[in-house]
Amino acid sequence: MSDIFDKVKGTTDVFTVIGCPVKHSFSPVIHNTMSEITGRDFIYTAMEVQPDCLQGAVKGAYCLGIKGINVTVPHKVAVMDILCDIEKRARVIGAVNTLKYTDDGYVGYNTDVIGVGYAIKNKGYSIKDKTVLLLGAGGAGNACAVMACDEGCKKLIIANRTVEKAKRLARNLAAHYDCSIEAVAMSDISEIDGCDIILNSTTVGFGDQKGSSPIEDKNFYKEKGVEFVFDAIYTPWETQLLKDASEAGAETLNGFSMLVYQAVAAEEIWFDEKYSRDMQEKLCKKLSKYYRENC
Ligand code: ATR
Repeated sequence: MSDIFDKVKGTTDVFTVIGCPVKHSFSPVIHNTMSEITGRDFIYTAMEVQPDCLQGAVKGAYCLGIKGINVTVPHKVAVMDILCDIEKRARVIGAVNTLKYTDDGYVGYNTDVIGVGYAIKNKGYSIKDKTVLLLGAGGAGNACAVMACDEGCKKLIIANRTVEKAKRLARNLAAHYDCSIEAVAMSDISEIDGCDIILNSTTVGFGDQKGSSPIEDKNFYKEKGVEFVFDAIYTPWETQLLKDASEAGAETLNGFSMLVYQAVAAEEIWFDEKYSRDMQEKLCKKLSKYYRENC
């Protein structure tokens, strides 16, 4: 009993994630763990908001002085109309996942971009001047693509089952970044010359598609010179894509660290303070242990 009285006081700030559905969200575990580690006086919860209540919910949250909100499906695009400003990466992607309270209203950010960047950097890999093959062009794909361009990749090849979506993303990025960007159909990836890094943002390997890989040819990794493979999926912990890539000698990383680091990035924005790499890694280790034992 005393723990809750110590933790939640009149001074305690409330942060939250809004979405629909949202009760399954892992974000409260991440942020409440961070609150415990840093000793900051806040709690973090999850609030289900129906689409027709979004505007009222965000305006109400502002009036209540809620300093930060994460936004998830289906509100990431619709919320943009209610904000006083939107940072560049979120504008390029056309989706917001983090709101920060300011005197003029909430400002929108997209921390998925920062999260996937931290995940890859903390693994000791640099994307600068590398050729990146991005699989998928949905929400997660947009974040991975902006991250690759932001990090200064030499070339970005976007492969998607629906090639028109890959082309649209390539056109959008070309208006903001100088690197070379190509779009190809997923069925044509065997024709690319080579790539140093693969980022998978498709859902192939997840849910009903567990056991499948977006790359069926196991020789692909050696033939194309692939050094590193990131898969945004973390259930299962090691997808078929990561298994095959690892067997072919590439370094691999699943999407759990992206999930944790997008939350770290949100807190950095809310509290105007950087978290050290050491702290980020400690947090990721603690949470991955918790996730694998409990979820
Ligand atoms: P998220 O927000 O998680 O990125 P999404 O926006 O629904 O989810 O995107 C899912 C991605 O997985 C898309 O790139 C999708 O390809 P399409 O744009 O052609 O739909 C890709 N995807 C899903 N199932 C796939 C499959 N069986 N083969 C290839 N790509 C698939």
